[in-house]
Amino acid sequence: MTQKITGFSKLTKAAKIDWLAQTYFQDQQQAVALLKRYWNADSKLQQLHDEFIENTISNFYLPLGVAPNFDINGKTYSIPMAIEESSVVAAASKAAKFWGERGGFKATVLGTTKVGQVHFTYTGTYERLQEFFKDTLFRFHKEAAPLTRNMEKRGGGIKAISLVNKSDQLPHYYQLHCEFDTQDAMGANFINSCLEQFAKTLKNAFEADRRFKDAESLEIIMSILSNYVPNCLVRAEVNCPVDALTEKGIEGQEFAEKFVQAIAIATVEPYRAVTHNKGIMNGIDAVILATGNDFRAVEAGVHAYAARDGQYRSLTTAEIKEGEFNFAIEIPLALGTVGGLTKLHPLVKWSMELLGNPSAQELMQLVAVAGLAQNFAAVKSLTTTGIQQGHMKMHLMNILNQMDASASEKQKTVHHFKTATVTHAAVVDFITTLRH
Ligand code: MEV
Repeated sequence: MTQKITGFSKLTKAAKIDWLAQTYFQDQQQAVALLKRYWNADSKLQQLHDEFIENTISNFYLPLGVAPNFDINGKTYSIPMAIEESSVVAAASKAAKFWGERGGFKATVLGTTKVGQVHFTYTGTYERLQEFFKDTLFRFHKEAAPLTRNMEKRGGGIKAISLVNKSDQLPHYYQLHCEFDTQDAMGANFINSCLEQFAKTLKNAFEADRRFKDAESLEIIMSILSNYVPNCLVRAEVNCPVDALTEKGIEGQEFAEKFVQAIAIATVEPYRAVTHNKGIMNGIDAVILATGNDFRAVEAGVHAYAARDGQYRSLTTAEIKEGEFNFAIEIPLALGTVGGLTKLHPLVKWSMELLGNPSAQELMQLVAVAGLAQNFAAVKSLTTTGIQQGHMKMHLMNILNQMDASASEKQKTVHHFKTATVTHAAVVDFITTLRH
């Protein structure tokens, strides 16, 4: 039986750790020591991390890797990636090299509209609500002005507020559907503050309006941004003559046809589409994390977009047209390069500088390219050598670490498996033989 505790968040960090060690661990000293080993020696830096969330007891590391040589819109980038999966950075780097030799990546922002909604119930007629909304619209803008002034100075602000009738789907349910431009900020706080002000204005204006008889009521249910941003959209693409795809004895035409077929399968078959898109998110999430953005928001929005016509499908498209191979991705990405963690987390700041301190729109392009590159590398492997060859080569070090291999054992094993197929059993056998 585990124990419950009251006031855990009020305990000091040391007391929290002691309670956890005593309550849950066999070897209490070891449990405490491990957490402390991951503390940063620089106490100011540690305090910064402690204060990101509640109940911080230690730091949880992920490797930060870099995929260099990404040619995007004529500029070369080294892309930072925070991820634990062994093959992701290597795959991105390979794709960057491959497309660097074939004209590079092109990326375009197709829209930057972000969305938020005030959800409310109303018991009267829609016509009366519509009239009231028309008369009240200016007040939403006016009463939110103190919140929007700075954003407007930067070129952003409220783009549109509309009344939506959803009462056919849920009795008495209506919403204010609001669109925003938040420039280089992800904008969650800006949007949510505006929405909460809109909700106040709506309620106050309704209560003061004599058109509504006593029998009619309006209740605010909630005000919140949406992570579904189909009009905050970016496209990344690559193309080259089909012949230019010829590589290592595989004809360009044969490769391109199989590749296009693989994308077509992921377009019609949801089981494949989910794995296909997961591979894309390997690249996207890694850059999102390294640049301090919210990968949960991006994941939720991207997957909803993949199912926008009612069936979950591939996020990428591929075709052969007039001798050209075209491969592209279109994804919604609400990102920020100011605010949030971007100026706070030292490694995020570092990653941003590595990218040349991009605008949010530039970051959208880089992230989309990382997703496209990752998908290219995965589908290329899947349709040629199979995924395990490259994957297991990169996983080799994990197996060696699991076996506590020494530096010399690692060196010998890596050398051996340059020409042999890596499987878990083959590596165990090889090390066992070495150790005898
Ligand atoms: C593994 O993390 C990702 C892949 O499964 C993606 C794919 O199948 O396209 C290799």
